Amino acid sequence: MILVKRILLIFTVIGFVTACTVKPSNEAEMDKFVDNLMSQMTLDEKIGQLNLLSMWFDTTGPRMSKGVEQKVKDGLVGGVFNFWTPKAVRKLQDMILTQTRLKIPLLVGYDVIHGHRTIYPIPFALAATWDIEMIERIAVAVADEASADGLQWTFSPMVDIARDPRWGRVSEGAGEDAFLGAEIAKAMVRGYEQGDLSKQNTLMACVKHFALYGAAEGGRDYNTTDMSRLRMYNEYLPPYEAAVKAGASTVMTSFNEIDGVPATGNRWLLTDLLRNQWGFDGFVVTDWTAIYEMEDHGVGDKAKVTELSINAGADMDMVSEYMIEELPALVKSGRVKEATVDAACRRILEAKYKLGLFADPYRGISDERAKSQIMSADKLALSKEAALKSFVLLKNDKQTLPLDASKKIAFIGPLVKNQRTLLGNWAAAGNWTKIMTVWDALESKYSNAKFLYAQGCHLVEDKYIRRMTDQGNGNVIDDRPAQQLIAEAVRTAGQADVIVAVLGEAYDMSGEAASRSNINLLDNQRDLLKALKATGKPVVLVLMNGRPLTLQWEDDNIDAILETWLPGTRGGEAIVDVLFGEANPSGKITMTFPRNVGQIPIYYNHKNSGRPFNNDSKFTVKYIDMENSPLYPFGYGLSYTQFDYSGVQLSDSTLAEGGSITASVTLTNSGDRAGEEIVQLYIRDLVGSITRPVKELKGFQRIALNAGESKQVTFSITPELLKFYNADLKWVAEPGNFLVFIGGNSDVKNNAKFTLK
Ligand code: NOJ
Repeated sequence: MILVKRILLIFTVIGFVTACTVKPSNEAEMDKFVDNLMSQMTLDEKIGQLNLLSMWFDTTGPRMSKGVEQKVKDGLVGGVFNFWTPKAVRKLQDMILTQTRLKIPLLVGYDVIHGHRTIYPIPFALAATWDIEMIERIAVAVADEASADGLQWTFSPMVDIARDPRWGRVSEGAGEDAFLGAEIAKAMVRGYEQGDLSKQNTLMACVKHFALYGAAEGGRDYNTTDMSRLRMYNEYLPPYEAAVKAGASTVMTSFNEIDGVPATGNRWLLTDLLRNQWGFDGFVVTDWTAIYEMEDHGVGDKAKVTELSINAGADMDMVSEYMIEELPALVKSGRVKEATVDAACRRILEAKYKLGLFADPYRGISDERAKSQIMSADKLALSKEAALKSFVLLKNDKQTLPLDASKKIAFIGPLVKNQRTLLGNWAAAGNWTKIMTVWDALESKYSNAKFLYAQGCHLVEDKYIRRMTDQGNGNVIDDRPAQQLIAEAVRTAGQADVIVAVLGEAYDMSGEAASRSNINLLDNQRDLLKALKATGKPVVLVLMNGRPLTLQWEDDNIDAILETWLPGTRGGEAIVDVLFGEANPSGKITMTFPRNVGQIPIYYNHKNSGRPFNNDSKFTVKYIDMENSPLYPFGYGLSYTQFDYSGVQLSDSTLAEGGSITASVTLTNSGDRAGEEIVQLYIRDLVGSITRPVKELKGFQRIALNAGESKQVTFSITPELLKFYNADLKWVAEPGNFLVFIGGNSDVKNNAKFTLK
């Protein structure tokens, strides 16, 4: 019986494949194919294509998907997500082919945010590598692995600019800078899609969250945003635009409102800007239940918000099921034109066509591919390379790091032996139970060394955070009181020459719905650090966390601080390599680290104001109760070696329209070991028709130098690089004087001046 079914299925598929135009190459052929298919579709079937449901997971919002399989059979679903494996996806597409009238394959998506099974450092950490070429390689590898596991679509990249580290989702983005964010966004889109979705090892990218999601008031996830058009265009929109222009096939709406209209129902955003100004021709998916949530936003009842969303330009409804429930009547009554449903349906069918799903509904799925691609050696090596490049050395007094393995070293802290935290949030199908902790890596690498261990404290003691985080999942919780854990740690530390404290945030203290009002190290962890400091021994702090923290006390008191973020599958090993000097840290932070939360928002590319900050003068932009500078500026990070910069040399002091000049420095590694430096170019437009930032990142290069080696590092400057949106939202470069800065972080003073004619 099973054999008969199988044979029948094979015939169905062959018949299906021959019935369809197979090669998804030519636009005219695609149009013909989609026209033909749509001519056979009922209105309900077209609306079914707009419905995206979640398969396996519990809800992360106010509604969840139920009875999905039945709805698939009933032709009421265009795509599913939270779902993978060749077997499961094959089964679902089989169901489509055998049990639905038109046999339209499903889109299968997932939040493959920083790896699918091989997990790379969180996106915020990847940004800290400033290694665009590597980020693109990672996106290629991620697509390769995820597509072998049945997926065609990832909800990545997240390109939301964020200036508020209280917002938990800074972990998913590239930080505070639009120029860097745009470069990363493009690289990820290129890597996922490779300009050709018919290749079976690619994924459709989804640029999210459109738009301005990172500007939530107070850093509280899902909260209101409000900003001027000038700020939008100059400071927040460039990464979305860059990703769209790099060819991203899909865009996800954001939960927030813009100008009082929720993004999911905002026609200016989804149609005027995205489609008409930027030329986006893919489809727009809402975020999870975002249409449903428009009722709570207070812009209408169920029918009204559905009408608003589709008329605004949203094509696919994630989980609300409002489109499927409301559109038939809305079309009937004329509130939504059938042509609008047709347009949305067409865009989704086109995506399926481009993916080659009509030619092969099992696109990319084979058990052999899954076996050879999933967690393959090259992907694991890439994950480690990325982790090594992402770590940021925040402080290193008296060359406390790297460590000497012949010394007695005490490793203290709840993250020394914690697996779950290493993978971070949104770890897709990553299996944290199979990865090496810091302690495992120590033991495997230095089997004869004298390492000591004590847990020292619970990862989380705070009762509010305990309630909101996943305490069962790799966080060691026991009944021992804090004082007992600290006393034991101090006894252990007493036997050591050096103490390494491994502390930070639990994996789900950053990410979605993980905003914090206080971004200090947790009190119980700080108490442990204070006790370790009181031993008088040198203390190294290794941090794992998904956002900038306020580390004033640590910076004042701890000898060395290594930021390792949430470093992925090979993170434990990478940490050990850096601690013992086998690798030299080279990452630089992509978001300002404030001294305390009162300084937020704090970002390097601020305006000068009419009363620029002056330490010696009270009536200037300042707080009177603290050192006003950031603790660590954007772009900052140390190395075990030392890099020296020459002055900035310009090829010419004037730049003509249509011309270009170069700015260069000689970079010297004056220390005693090889290292990599991220050289940064900033420009200041001294006078403009609107006020201009005190500095803007306009270029960067990762330069490797051996000890004693020097190299000239050159950037090209063209008028295009000097453009900004003026008060009329025109993209212009205005003649006048500019300063060019080149250095190792945004606090660079080293500059030269030129004039744009
Ligand atoms: C909600 C999140 O905001 C979004 O980033 C994610 O892609 C969807 N849920 C799907 O899981």
